[in-house]
Amino acid sequence: MKKMMVLLLLLVSSGSTKPPVERASLPDDQFLVIAHRGASAYAPPHTLTAYELAINMGSDYIELDVHMTRDRKLVAMHDSYLTFQDTEQAIADVTFNELQLYMPGEEFNERNPRYASPIYKQLRVVELEDILLHFGDSVNYYIEIKSPHAYPGIEKELLHLLRENNLLRGDDVIPKVIIQSFNENSLKAIFAMEPSIPLIKLYSFDKEAHLSKKKVQQLKEYASGVGVNVDSVTKKFIKSMHKEGLDVHPFTVNEEKLIRKLMKLGADGVFTDNPDVAVRVKSEQSSLDAD
Ligand code: G3P
Ligand code: CA
Repeated sequence: MKKMMVLLLLLVSSGSTKPPVERASLPDDQFLVIAHRGASAYAPPHTLTAYELAINMGSDYIELDVHMTRDRKLVAMHDSYLTFQDTEQAIADVTFNELQLYMPGEEFNERNPRYASPIYKQLRVVELEDILLHFGDSVNYYIEIKSPHAYPGIEKELLHLLRENNLLRGDDVIPKVIIQSFNENSLKAIFAMEPSIPLIKLYSFDKEAHLSKKKVQQLKEYASGVGVNVDSVTKKFIKSMHKEGLDVHPFTVNEEKLIRKLMKLGADGVFTDNPDVAVRVKSEQSSLDAD
């Protein structure tokens, strides 16, 4: 009786009688190749071409940054502001149709003469919905909510699209969808509405990666792992995250040597513009492990 009273008092003092909701889990012992903005070393980022290439290369996930236009369309692109027609404009202030004036292929061709192609000039910014319709459940999506403060309600819109496309079934060996953000509140909003999706909190550290004990405890209430800039990652950090049940996905890792090193350090995957390289390294390592 006394024990029951203590339990009751604890629950009342914690402000809730509900048990805590479990975080979603990520696959054990699988090094994930996350195609950063698609196979963006070889084709214009965030375009269907870059995503198709990434899938053909054997990536485990295609990575998409999402923003919301003035007419509330979710679009795959990196920056919150774009200069087109000689004017800098916020994505939040333009409609999807207006955004079609921007040509991602032109920028790619200028910056990457080796992989440039005249065909890329035909590419345009794509709606997330069209990407989901195009690939369906044949691929896995690693979606970043960018600048959520600029797009009130983006979390709800995103979940709506994922549900409509039947991507939250939860019966897959590796999760069909992972959601990432630098914004803690945005991830918590997703967790409150749909705790079945693994969430990755992104960090960019100036020095060696480190999170205080208090921060880690807060993270563990909703996140399944962290995404961190690769130059900050240490073995000690990866070990400390693993001890707390959190996975580590460094970004952005394009060099073969570095991918090998991170695998040895115990990273759980990498964001990469060169998924072909990461897939090859992963496969070579699997062969070695099998011997
Ligand atoms: O999402 C991980 C990494 O992509 C974050 O950096 O600027 O490339 O979106 P960014
Ligand atoms: Ca990103």
